[in-house]
Amino acid sequence: MGTLLRSNVSGNSLLTRSSRPRTARKLVVTPSSASAPATLAPTYEVPKDANPLLSTYTLGSFELSHRVVLAPLTRCRALGTVPQLNAAEYYAQRTSKGGLLISEATCVAETGHGYPNTPGIYTEEQINAWKPVTQAVRDAGGIFFLQLWHCGRSSHPEYQPNGADPISASAVAISSGTVFTPSGKEYPFPVPRALDISEIPGVVKSFADGARNSIAAGFHGVEIHGANGYLIDQFLKSSVNKRTDKYGGSIPNRCRFALEVAAAVADAVGPELTGIRLSPYSDFQEAMDPETLELNLYLVDKASEMGLLYVHAVESRISGGTDAQAPQSESLDPLRNAFKGAFMAAGGFTRDLGIQAIESGHADLVAYGRAFLANPDLPLRFALPDVPLNPYNRGTFYTPDQVVGYLDYPFLKDVEPSLAAQLSA
Ligand SMILES: Cc1cc2nc3c(=O)[nH]c(=O)nc-3n(C[C@H](O)[C@H](O)[C@H](O)COP(=O)(O)O)c2cc1C
Repeated sequence: MGTLLRSNVSGNSLLTRSSRPRTARKLVVTPSSASAPATLAPTYEVPKDANPLLSTYTLGSFELSHRVVLAPLTRCRALGTVPQLNAAEYYAQRTSKGGLLISEATCVAETGHGYPNTPGIYTEEQINAWKPVTQAVRDAGGIFFLQLWHCGRSSHPEYQPNGADPISASAVAISSGTVFTPSGKEYPFPVPRALDISEIPGVVKSFADGARNSIAAGFHGVEIHGANGYLIDQFLKSSVNKRTDKYGGSIPNRCRFALEVAAAVADAVGPELTGIRLSPYSDFQEAMDPETLELNLYLVDKASEMGLLYVHAVESRISGGTDAQAPQSESLDPLRNAFKGAFMAAGGFTRDLGIQAIESGHADLVAYGRAFLANPDLPLRFALPDVPLNPYNRGTFYTPDQVVGYLDYPFLKDVEPSLAAQLSA
């Protein structure tokens, strides 16, 4: 997920979460075990080949009708770790025929949680609750991947079984910012417990189980969350990983955990259904590495050898879910050139930057986060230049409200009916 905790990484402790209402608004919650609701958002088709962003793309066995991908977006609406039925409407709204969607980060184990109301994919109840959501996306013609997540140290004992310390590569706490607990309290980040080497296979297995459960829940594939300072990134980056065993030190050692997860997930569901997200240049949540380019090149080489479907990399101009200053030299191109599968870029893309990225070969696919959150029909709006976009409201990114800031962003047809008619003509 993005910046639930800190809106920048400079240590100013700008806590976006503190702006959240302490008491939940009146919720419109439907039972998660029920079948899909009868009426969902209308399916829409995106005008073909209106520009390079809207050109078709063959992603492994999936025929995508355009290159505009829904980026993974944590929304904190999965009450008690279980996706609610309104998630079906939320994702269906953002589905176009032949469009690719990546789900919000979804925990593979109870120890993986670190934010309120984030979903899991490790219990039968959670798997069943995802089914109407995936069905709604399938019914609307979308391709839906689940993002497999473990927060690692970005958590608090209140989230953990028996109130234990969160786990990480090493016992190094995030020094700035705070964590909000399920009971609504705010604390500095705790010092995590370094995983014992004997525990690592169990954590790797939880990713593979999560992948299998995702397919059982109706997802088309999975994306491993290796970005933004969460558990996998905590192993990758030397600011967090201080291990002296075979999971720490050299680049191959720091990549070992990520690659074991990738191999286990690929083994569970097939490399052709497995993507991985990386944020090489991000220092979000204090996960940094001076050798990041070499490290990520090593990773993507191995990902190519495994035949992973795609690498999804976050541009350096983004820190979690906010804009950041980035030197020009921090380019994703070396990774794009090294990886043999599909390459997806995310972070700070406008319509024009997306078109340029596809035209120049910078990426095969472009994921949009905040703009897609606020514009359910974003690909359609990209058909013409200068189609207005709804602004996003950061204040409702992470509230538990099942409607406000979630289902109520308008479609173009509601705000500019004549323009919408022109696009669908
Ligand atoms: C509300 C919000 C939630 C996010 N949740 C996730 C997440 O669950 N997983 C993830 O990998 N990134 C997450 N991110 C990061 C986005 O996927 C994306 O990389 C970031 O917003 C930059 O893209 P943009 O400039 O198009 O918004 C989140 C960002 C935002 C704003």
